[in-house]
Amino acid sequence: MKPTITPHPEPNVTIVAGMQWGDEGKGKTIDYEAKDAKLVIRSTGGSNAGHTIIHNGIKYALHLLPSSIANPKVKSIIGAGVVIDPECLLKEIWRITGDSYVIKDNRLVISDRAHVILPFHKSMDKLYEELKANKVGTTGKGIGPCTADKMNRVGIRMGDLKHCTESELRAKIKELIKVPNDLFSLYGYPEWKITEEEMFVKCQKYKEILSYLIFDVQPIIAREIRKSSKIVIEGAQAFSLDIDHGDYPYVTSSNPNASGLCSAAGIGPTQVKCVIGVIKSYCSRVGEGPFPTEQPDQTPEDVGSIIRELGHEYGTTTGRPRRCGWLDLMQLRRACEVNGVTYLCVNHIDTIGLIGQKVGKLKVCYTYDEGEAKYVTFDHSGWEIPKNCTNYDELPNEAKKYIEYIERLTDVPVKYIGIGPEDKAMIVRQDV
Ligand code: IMP
Ligand code: MG
Repeated sequence: MKPTITPHPEPNVTIVAGMQWGDEGKGKTIDYEAKDAKLVIRSTGGSNAGHTIIHNGIKYALHLLPSSIANPKVKSIIGAGVVIDPECLLKEIWRITGDSYVIKDNRLVISDRAHVILPFHKSMDKLYEELKANKVGTTGKGIGPCTADKMNRVGIRMGDLKHCTESELRAKIKELIKVPNDLFSLYGYPEWKITEEEMFVKCQKYKEILSYLIFDVQPIIAREIRKSSKIVIEGAQAFSLDIDHGDYPYVTSSNPNASGLCSAAGIGPTQVKCVIGVIKSYCSRVGEGPFPTEQPDQTPEDVGSIIRELGHEYGTTTGRPRRCGWLDLMQLRRACEVNGVTYLCVNHIDTIGLIGQKVGKLKVCYTYDEGEAKYVTFDHSGWEIPKNCTNYDELPNEAKKYIEYIERLTDVPVKYIGIGPEDKAMIVRQDV
């Protein structure tokens, strides 16, 4: 007899991915999309990310916890592809709970497959940067070195903290610290030498506090997939920082594009319903690397400085002033293709209006000529978003023209429009 095969459940996974160099405002989009979701899965990166969200009037600066953590109706998952600095995680949990390490009601689950960043990974990050002729300008959070250990198959995973016996864990630590200790002494940092005991004590501490959150998350995800529950995959970093598709070598060490996010979350592509590509109305970049539309920022009157001040473009993770410039539609077109973007979310439409007013014009890059950005100039001079604006028709005509130009050149509809930092300051076009 032929077996009966249950058909695939109706896809209901939404991926939220950055299209530029990070800091596009993904946190707010995720917070919005999570309103009717069952699960939110943070899928790649680590504490190099920084999301600022304002949920019900309370501001949260998050690095590792999913942006849904403030929402009691959602289960937040830190997925297999994340590299976790437990020190950072503990701090965030402490802050979000008030003053304890207890997140109630099973609201947070951490994949036992996620890798652990240990303090020496940050020293390695520093050392590698120092040794490089072309610096990447990493966040210094140990992301690259931890990922390299993962790829070299010597990493320690969250599940190891929970399940390994003392001798198993000590053996893993011994294996892991061999090469970094050699490098530290070779390159003149003997004081950075790590001892097995020191690492073991740290791992014991993480085990005691975090074990109740660490599980195999696959059964949890599979159950919701079977019911076609809404699941949101939370991206970190962005397309141009993708290790394969970004500006190599000035990239991060993961695949923050939509397919990479899907894989790192543990979800098959047939379950994806839509990909939301998030951009700002201008561009910013922290760290080194190409930036075709970058604007000068030597004096306060320079366009780069104006964008930075009006957009508050200082890193959430490192406090570094961000490099700023005009929107780059060449970058965006490519990002939309690689990510298979269904809808765009355009943030900072309020800010770009103010930038236009201050600069006297707005520019958008529509092509490159031998690597150099070519611009279309909008001859109007910016706008202000009216108070209590809640739908697309209430936006100033110039703002609509700006948005429709993005749609025309990318061939992707703009469904979400961010008009301020709060969770409510978002226009959602229902007709798109
Ligand atoms: P890493 O991820 O710390 O190794 O840094 C590699 C590059 O990615 C550097 O240019 C960082 O500034 C950049 N980067 C990493 N995470 C983020 C982010 O969340 N927002 C913006 N830039 C990031
Ligand atoms: Mg950020």
